[in-house]
Amino acid sequence: MVDADQASNPAGAGFTKRVFSGIQPSGGLTLGNYLGAIKRFVEMQEEDYETIYCMVDLHAITVWQDPEDLRRNTRELAAGYIASGIDPAKSILFNQSQVPQHAQLGWIFNCVARMGWMNRMTQFKDKAGKNRENVSVGLFSYPTLMAADILVYHATHVPVGEDQKQHLELTRDIAAKFNNDFGIDFFPLAEPVIEGAATRVMSLRDGSKKMSKSDPSDASRINMTDSAEDIARKIRKAKTDPDALPSEAAGLENRPEARNLVNIYAALADMSVDQVLAEAGGRQFSQFKPMLSDLAVAKLAPISTEMARLMQDQAEIDRILGVGAQAAREIAAPILDRTYEIVGMIRSA
Ligand code: TYM
Repeated sequence: MVDADQASNPAGAGFTKRVFSGIQPSGGLTLGNYLGAIKRFVEMQEEDYETIYCMVDLHAITVWQDPEDLRRNTRELAAGYIASGIDPAKSILFNQSQVPQHAQLGWIFNCVARMGWMNRMTQFKDKAGKNRENVSVGLFSYPTLMAADILVYHATHVPVGEDQKQHLELTRDIAAKFNNDFGIDFFPLAEPVIEGAATRVMSLRDGSKKMSKSDPSDASRINMTDSAEDIARKIRKAKTDPDALPSEAAGLENRPEARNLVNIYAALADMSVDQVLAEAGGRQFSQFKPMLSDLAVAKLAPISTEMARLMQDQAEIDRILGVGAQAAREIAAPILDRTYEIVGMIRSA
């Protein structure tokens, strides 16, 4: 049973402090991915955690991916992780499909999760839209594979942007049901780590929509591979309102576009929103936007330059992912074996 100790310590007593997180190689990296996820991944790598980071290629194919694009995007994402500061000597870095235990545990979790739980997943509803009969079965069971990604390592902490919160709640529900069904305290209840000024970076064209790699308008997002000119142009054209910036955070209420640009500034500068407004309060957007684009270019240009350099040696990227996958399999294999045993599968010697 889930014991009281685990209930009071959500990450689970007795588990190694281990971080897992993943990003889909389903298009280019955006500023949303960087500020909402990767920046935190790098910080956690330097803290007191074992860190495991993944390109979730099996998740990406829940919607159609051209095979050549998928290969390219997977390598580019690896380059993006490394250029942003993920050090393969400190973190395990690999692509999901090289570690078969993810899909294997995903199957077990398909048999643990309930249809009712899955039907409530807002990301599925958003992605399927009116096309529900025609989307892949994989898109529906996406969150059980995500739970497997995390739990196959007994990960205790999962840094993500706000949009993944519901999936992480489901991951905890699956862990708790498994533990309860089999009367064993086996899977930790992993804790979401949703922190910082930019856990939900919004579209530059519409402050009510998330910045996303799948938005048809390229002007809605900053891509990590954008040139300095692109970044400056997109920020210059970003939707705003006519008022000056307020001098404290409360003044951003009902001003989604203004809030978004201030949040982005705060996250890039490692400042709080109040600190940004103490400096920039009272300024018009015509003054604030150039400040923001200078800051964005200063922070992002070194990353995109390094990504381009790394992309010139694809064999080296593939080698790094191979080493990461081997290390990942070494952690995942015994946890999967034990799971099979708990479930009642015969394991021949
Ligand atoms: P994905 O690939 O959509 O996004 C990767 C990470 O970036 C964050 N993110 C954002 N954060 C702030 N503002 C935004 N506009 C923004 N857009 C994206 C996401 O929250 C995420 O942290 N299901 C996951 C991938 C996944 C995963 C996992 C994550 C698969 N297995 C296990 C954690 C643990 C996804 O689609 O992320």
